[in-house]
Amino acid sequence: MEDLVTDKLMDAVKYIRGIVEEKPTVGIILGSGLGGLAYEIQNPIEIAYSDIPFFKTSTVPGHEGKLIFGKIYDKNVVAMQGRLHYYEGYSMQDIVFPIRVFALLGVETLIVTNAAGGINPKFKPGDLMVITDHINMSGNSPLIGPNVEIIGPRFPSMRKIYSPKCIETIKEVAAKLKINLQEGIYAYMPGPQYETDAEVKMLEILGASAVGMSTVPEVIAAAHSSIAVLGVSCITNMAGGGEESPSHAEVLDVASKAEEDFTSLILDTINEL
Ligand code: HPA
Repeated sequence: MEDLVTDKLMDAVKYIRGIVEEKPTVGIILGSGLGGLAYEIQNPIEIAYSDIPFFKTSTVPGHEGKLIFGKIYDKNVVAMQGRLHYYEGYSMQDIVFPIRVFALLGVETLIVTNAAGGINPKFKPGDLMVITDHINMSGNSPLIGPNVEIIGPRFPSMRKIYSPKCIETIKEVAAKLKINLQEGIYAYMPGPQYETDAEVKMLEILGASAVGMSTVPEVIAAAHSSIAVLGVSCITNMAGGGEESPSHAEVLDVASKAEEDFTSLILDTINEL
């Protein structure tokens, strides 16, 4: 089975290398409502997920389904416009397949973005938050199953996987741009239902600042492949507190309002990496 995964990865890598010559060193996953950053990529080459061997396609509104290769400043980048979620019914292994392809293509830093519900009462909708650590509440892992040896070890460390250097860099960039950047721990709930008030209270007691339905599987896979990770959440709503849960349309709307700051923050951070 491990060999099968390796063969599939190699097929996907070979297909992409047949189209894109430059080796990307920065990977970007664009979260709900944050896909606009892709338009800042210079000399873009787009490849639909549906054309890449063994890639699955996203089924969620606000998530397109393509890889975009090109340049941001002097860096070769690849962006996923549209991500895969566990709640769509995909396996954890399917969700992280693109990350493993990124690793084999030469990606050294992964910037993971998402829309999230705020738990820290000091947060407000529209805030951006750099992720300092995560709590995996899914009871699942993309690394379950035979270990893919070409990617990483059987028992990888998950300590300091959100690169302290990247966190420092993005904070400096935010200060320069006068963007208020929060920081905190991201709790992963598999969804697709939003949290109960009791669950939000539990996550707060556990030390989480925000909650969302993505990111953690990809980050675990990136850490497994020794890719440095920078995570940024857009707080689109407050997760608890007696309000109604947000609609997905509201999540997309708030994320799109924060998108201008978000885009400049990420672009300038890539320049400083
Ligand atoms: N909970 C989980 N995921 C989310 C939320 C939330 O409140 N907002 C945006 N993504």
